[in-house]
Amino acid sequence: METEIDMFQQPNLTVNAAGHLAIGGVDSLALAEKYGTPLYVLDEDMVRERMALYVDAMRAAFPAGSRPLYASKALCCKALCAMAHEQGMGLDVVSAGELYTALAAGFPAEDICFHGNAKTEADIRYAVSSGVGIIAADGEEELERIDRIAGELGARQGVLLRVTPGIDPHTFAAVNTGVVDVKFGVPIPTGDALAVTGRALEKENIHLLGFHCHIGSQIFEPDPFFLETDVLLAFLAQVRRAWGYTAGVLDLGGGFAVAYTEDQRGPDCADMIRRVGERLAAGCRALDLPVPAVLMEPGRGIVAAAGVTLYTVQNVKSVPGGRCYVAVDGGMTDNPRYALYGARYTAAVADRAGEAKTARVTLAGCCCESGDLLGEDMAIQPPHTGDRVAVFVTGAYNYSMASNYNRVPRPPIAALRGGTDRLIVRRETWEDVTRYDL
Ligand code: LLP
Repeated sequence: METEIDMFQQPNLTVNAAGHLAIGGVDSLALAEKYGTPLYVLDEDMVRERMALYVDAMRAAFPAGSRPLYASKALCCKALCAMAHEQGMGLDVVSAGELYTALAAGFPAEDICFHGNAKTEADIRYAVSSGVGIIAADGEEELERIDRIAGELGARQGVLLRVTPGIDPHTFAAVNTGVVDVKFGVPIPTGDALAVTGRALEKENIHLLGFHCHIGSQIFEPDPFFLETDVLLAFLAQVRRAWGYTAGVLDLGGGFAVAYTEDQRGPDCADMIRRVGERLAAGCRALDLPVPAVLMEPGRGIVAAAGVTLYTVQNVKSVPGGRCYVAVDGGMTDNPRYALYGARYTAAVADRAGEAKTARVTLAGCCCESGDLLGEDMAIQPPHTGDRVAVFVTGAYNYSMASNYNRVPRPPIAALRGGTDRLIVRRETWEDVTRYDL
């Protein structure tokens, strides 16, 4: 018998008849046994559902040509790129390495948008010669470089100009890349975006498709997206007045929030997208603009909740008068987000997932650094050495930000589909870790 464990209303997380945590119906202890720990587990069915949800919602809310691009920075490997393509998504890549991964997975170049605030000459040459559909240009110098390189390669490159809308981060605390004084993009409020657009339109080898904007991450409410839409539409109207150019594409970036802790609830993304669609249509009517095709770039919203990391407890140490430390065989090397951002997670003892979480522990990693923690004051079933501990919602920005600090090999990723498991990334070995040592 399977019972659901009430975790972020995620029906894929259950307790099976043995009392073990099951992920997508698969016994987590069996996975830990088969592949070893630490282990990233990814519910592929859930990833594909999330991808389909964004594709369908965007098709319904926006004009033809609108689609989500999977922000592969959240979790980039060949299998994820292939899933995104199979589910009808485009792809957002931010480095030549991500582009290489996508192309190696057979992702069609024309469906890729290449980002980055410091692209090198070689990066741009690689992107243009690979035939990527869009380069998101971060500024004027880069536009000039793209124009020159495209000319040399006999191409006319599709480009979105990245702009910053000047949205006040104090209004929305979670929003922090849309302000003017950031390393990304060209600011709208200063007039720079308008001026650069005029010059972009004169470039022979650049086909300006429209504009890109990303206001931040972990956005729970539609309001910041509304504000972003309003600012961008006003800008489109300004561009049309000044240069007689009507942009056909608006890329609103990513940023859909997910619930990491039990007191959070993830937003209803389909509803948010529907409401942004209404806002966009109304705004275009008011300004007498044709409704542009819309791109969005969800990363976390696609993969975060589908990921669970499994560890094995190495020791449990109660410091007299202090805290209870539960040390596991992974840590900041596979999940640096607590050490980096103080990001909070939810955990459970996978062996007794249905039991009450009566212990409060500090979940410690195995690195030689006291800051190597996965969380503090975490509610969990009383843990014992040898137990498997599951940390939830680790699908985004965990594997992709993992490191070999302390020469710890990176864990593998096991993907679950229809109740069966397969490896999509294998475990690194000590040989891998020393491969580049001369
Ligand atoms: N598009 C652009 C241009 C971005 O910069 C980002 C994220 C995304 C899309 C995807 O955003 P998402 O939907 O995943 O929120 N390492 C941090 C997250 C950094 C996000 C950077 N840009 C973390 O672990 O929370």
